[in-house]
Amino acid sequence: MPLQKSPVKEALSYLWWFYTPFRAKSVSDIYELISTNAYSGDGLYLNLGYWKEADNIDDACRAMARLCADQAGLNGDDQLLDVGFGFADQDMYWLEHYSPWRIVGLNITHSQVELARQRVAERGMSDRIELLEASATDMPLENGTFDKVIGLECAFHFNTREQFFAEALRVLKPGGRLVLADVIQMKPMESAWQRMIQRSNWNFFSKKYVVPEANADTQETYVEKLRRTGFVNIQMESIREQVYPQLHHYMATDPAMLKRFHFLARLPYYLALRFDASKVYIAYDYVLVSAEKPA
Ligand SMILES: C[S@@+](CC[C@H](N)C(=O)[O-])C[C@H]1O[C@@H](n2cnc3c(N)ncnc32)[C@H](O)[C@@H]1O
Repeated sequence: MPLQKSPVKEALSYLWWFYTPFRAKSVSDIYELISTNAYSGDGLYLNLGYWKEADNIDDACRAMARLCADQAGLNGDDQLLDVGFGFADQDMYWLEHYSPWRIVGLNITHSQVELARQRVAERGMSDRIELLEASATDMPLENGTFDKVIGLECAFHFNTREQFFAEALRVLKPGGRLVLADVIQMKPMESAWQRMIQRSNWNFFSKKYVVPEANADTQETYVEKLRRTGFVNIQMESIREQVYPQLHHYMATDPAMLKRFHFLARLPYYLALRFDASKVYIAYDYVLVSAEKPA
């Protein structure tokens, strides 16, 4: 179900985004541009996947959705808030497999919200999944409404992540749980040369994918921000070894995956695939986080 765009305008936008040194305009501009030319083959997931037991991108994306739901203890009594829902694949997956009472989604990318609503309606799930065009940092939602808040690979974009923590705390019920799969900075490595590569890779990522400077967290600053916001029982686990190396290997071995990208978006990936994953992802940690609002 590709969204209709002018091919020339699209190519110019990719050239501007990837091949100039300038910062991308806005997060939603990027996702409007990427549109449905995404990673997964039999869905429209936009996460990097959890590869512990998966051997293809679609299973890995679903495994990431499962990992977050299991960490949240998602169940039939829950009112769930899903921030940054992409095309709502994980919401439909969670409804089918965990049957939460109700899911509300927030997303700022207009075309994703429209297509996601259409897909949810086609699956007959609109009475249980409500998708709103709104920001996770300014939620049009009542205090103390939700049992769980999940953010699957999106909070690094939020302006700021800490402002989102405050909003998540506000809309959670007492005792409610926040679960995030999130990209943060690796702590600086020993050698000056490695630290330089880390810095330049992070700068590239934050410029191209519109990551606010305030979100350049390490594990320590992330946990501290959650604590400062008022969360308790904070747990954080790095799952980077179950994300980046296998994704890198899979991209190198399944040509169909990169073919789903716009051709101008493929070139940087072909270049990255010439290097080992340990170098390409040297700057990035990938964490699974959970925290609770005091009961
Ligand atoms: C990498 S995608 C992940 C999508 C989805 N969770 C998945 O796993 O397929 C990041 C998503 O975050 C959304 N997003 C970015 N900033 C946002 C904000 N401030 N509020 C709500 N959604 C936001 C984007 O529109 C996009 O849908």
